[in-house]
Formats: sequence, structure tokens, C-alpha cells
Amino acid sequence: MRTQVAIIGAGPAGLTLGRLLERAGIDAIVVERRSADYVLGRIRAGVLEQSSVDLLRELGVGARMDAEGIVHEGAEMSFDGDMLRIDFADLVGRRVMVYGQTEVTHDLMDARSASGALTIYEAENVALHDIDGPNPKVTFEKNGETVEIHCDVIAGCDGFHGVSRASVPERSIKAFERIYPFGWLGVMVDQPPVAEELIYAHHERGFALCSMRSHTRSRYYVQVDASETVANWSDSRFWDELRARLNPEIAEQLRTGPSIEKSIAPLRSFVVEPLRFGKLFLAGDAAHIVPPTGAKGLNMAIHDVKVLGEALVEFFADKSSAGIDAYSARVLANTWRTERFSWWMTQLLHTFPESGDFGRRIQRADFDYLSASRIAQQSLAENYTGFRLSAG
Ligand code: FAD
Ligand code: DHB
Repeated sequence: MRTQVAIIGAGPAGLTLGRLLERAGIDAIVVERRSADYVLGRIRAGVLEQSSVDLLRELGVGARMDAEGIVHEGAEMSFDGDMLRIDFADLVGRRVMVYGQTEVTHDLMDARSASGALTIYEAENVALHDIDGPNPKVTFEKNGETVEIHCDVIAGCDGFHGVSRASVPERSIKAFERIYPFGWLGVMVDQPPVAEELIYAHHERGFALCSMRSHTRSRYYVQVDASETVANWSDSRFWDELRARLNPEIAEQLRTGPSIEKSIAPLRSFVVEPLRFGKLFLAGDAAHIVPPTGAKGLNMAIHDVKVLGEALVEFFADKSSAGIDAYSARVLANTWRTERFSWWMTQLLHTFPESGDFGRRIQRADFDYLSASRIAQQSLAENYTGFRLSAG
């Protein structure tokens, strides 16, 4: 087989890039390790920045998002039960859209199958070859046979555990990492959300988040120790813990029910530099991870592939390498900006047993400053709704 761009991974990054290239008349094949159903079964992010919404609309996959997504003009913060509303619309004139990652992926998959673009699911032992040379190649096994894809460029969109980043020689890549000593236990429930907007809550028992997928489906998270397992958390234990971390009046409004999904996500901050190795370009979680507190992982992935897609269009259609040469630096500048914000939200809202009473007083001071200062609130709102360098 031959294509212009071999895309590794059919998550949001790979599928959005595929769509962007398809619309520009550039040939691409997506190779995914899992089945389509498995990919759709993963419950992950829930909040889209305006720029992500705009891109999905531009790519002709925004109709269901516009019909079913919920526009939010603000979010609530809670610190030991004290509430503070951050009014994005008033502070920075921007909004976000609550629409699940699963739905974004679904819409992109549907568009891809409607147009006949090729996605190979359940590809085993995917391997990258000659990424430094003029003729890179991707191989994998499918139904017991080895398949080869010859291509001009490889887009590594295969997430944190993928093969793309692992194919780069260690001496050519530098990783920056912080692992947090806790994770998020998430529960999905078919009950109306506890409040109209998201609530990000700090409590001495730990962080909690009240989110949603629709007016009838809610998503809740509590911070748990990194060593915790889902088996330790019955539904009733989860609801008791969540209530204990919320403002009592809000806790009273909570509508509980049997969980329809329950999982634990570890928290880490991670960046690699650079993002290009010859003909291989890394994008999305393959290149960087943020703790989920700022709702940024999915939005970063979409931003990366917008920059990469435009650079590849320049490369194939205009025969210019300017865009692909600038890709790594452009994406990294925004990556570090977003890493900083996600780290800041995480350290404000979680409990860090090792930082002791001093650490808790600093967190309280940070929250009090936020409550008292419109400028501090503007900074949060600017970052939460999506802050980018104009060049990227
Ligand atoms: P992914 O979605 O990981 O997609 C990569 C794809 O590549 C997958 O389909 C995978 O199966 C495939 N793949 C992997 N290895 C190979 C291989 N060798 N060959 C071929 N294909 C391969 N962000 C938030 O903003 N809020 C959240 O609440 C949130 N929760 C999360 C929970 C978890 C458990 C995880 C892992 C992430 C979470 N994120 C969250 C982050 C967000 O979901 C990611 O940033 C987003 O999925 C990144 O998209 P991606 O396409 O880069 O990577
Ligand atoms: C959701 C996840 C997040 O990490 C976040 O900051 C907000 C919402 C969610 O899954 O709904």
C-alpha cells in the first residue's frame, strides 16, 4: 500500500488530522491498534475550547456537537465549601462547549466512513521504519498477514503508550515529567447534573469535580491515592466521598444512581522535545500529557493536529517545508503554556499530603486572591477557555 501520510492512532488527534488532510485532498491512512468499539468505549474528556469547536465545525463534523453540546459561560470553584463563580463570558468574552470526547470521536469516525477514507482497526504489532530516510514505512499484522504502508510522512497520534515516540532513538529526544501521587476516580451516571455549570472543588479530603455529558447524564470525579483500585470503590462509597468534599447545600442536591462507568486515571505532566524526527511528527498525547484538571488534553491534541495539518498541506500542495520545519517549535510554545496552567490548577485544587499545613495555607491564599482579584480571575478564564500564541 502507498499513501502520502500514514497516521498512527485513531483517537481524536489521528481522526481530526485525517479529516483535515482529506478535506485538502491529501491521501492518508489511519492505523489503529484497537477495534472501533474499544476506542468508542473509552470515557475521557468533556470540555471543548472555542478553537476546538471552530475547527470541528470547519471540518464539517460539528452538526451533532452544535445540536447536543452545552455551551457554558462560566464554572464554579469551591474551596472547603466556599464558592466562587468564574464568569468566562464577562471576564474574557469566551465560552466553552461541554461535549464528550467519545462523541467527538464518534462524529469523526462517521465522517470518515461516509467518505470512504481508510482506517485499519485491530492492526497488530505496528512498527515504524526508516523515519530518518526519504522512504519511511509502517508495517503491521492484520488477520495473520503482514501489511506494509509506504508513505512520505508519518503522524504519530498514538497516545502516551504508543509506538511512535518509542521508535525515536533515545539520544534524539528529551522527556520532561512530573508524576503526581494520586489519580482521578471517575463515575458516569444517568442522572441530571448537580448544578448547571461544572464545579471544581478543593477539600482537605481531596479534589472533586462535578461535570456532565448532557442534561440527563453526569460525570463526577474524586481524587484518590495512586495505589487505589476501582474494586475498592462501591457506588455508595463514591457518592459518600463526593458529598463530603462539596459545599453542603450542593451535596444535598446531588442525584445519585448506579454508575454506568467507573475508572481511575493517573495524573502526570509530561512533554517531549522535539516533536519531529525526520519524517515522523508527534502530536497529542504521544507528545505531551497534562493532568486533567484544566480540561486541556483533548484541546491540545486538536490544536497540535491543526498546526500539523496546515503544515502538511503547505508541504504537499505548495511544495514548501516552512510549516513542517516550524511545527515542533510552534507546538512546544503552546504546550508549555498549557502545561503551566494545568499544573497550576492541579496544585491549587488537590491535596498534597507531603506539603503539609504550609502548603494548605498557600492554597487558601491562592483561592482568596482569586476570589478578590478580577485580574486573577481573568487569567484563569483566559487559560481555561483557551490561550494561544497568535502564531500557533
Ligand atoms: P488517544 O486518545 O490516546 O488516542 C491514541 C490512539 O492510538 C488510541 O486509539 C490508541 O488505541 C491508539 N494506539 C496506541 N498505540 C498504538 C499502536 N502501537 N499502534 C496503533 N495505534 C495505537 N483529558 C481531559 O481533558 N479531561 C479528562 O477527563 C481526561 N481523562 C482522561 C482519562 C484517561 C484514562 C486518559 C488516558 C486520558 C484522559 N484525558 C483527559 C486526556 C485526553 O483524553 C487525551 O488528551 C486525548 O485522548 C488525546 O488524544 P490523542 O488522540 O492524542 O490520544
Ligand atoms: C471533565 C474532565 C476534566 O478533566 C475537566 O477538567 C472537566 C470535565 C469531564 O470528563 O467532564
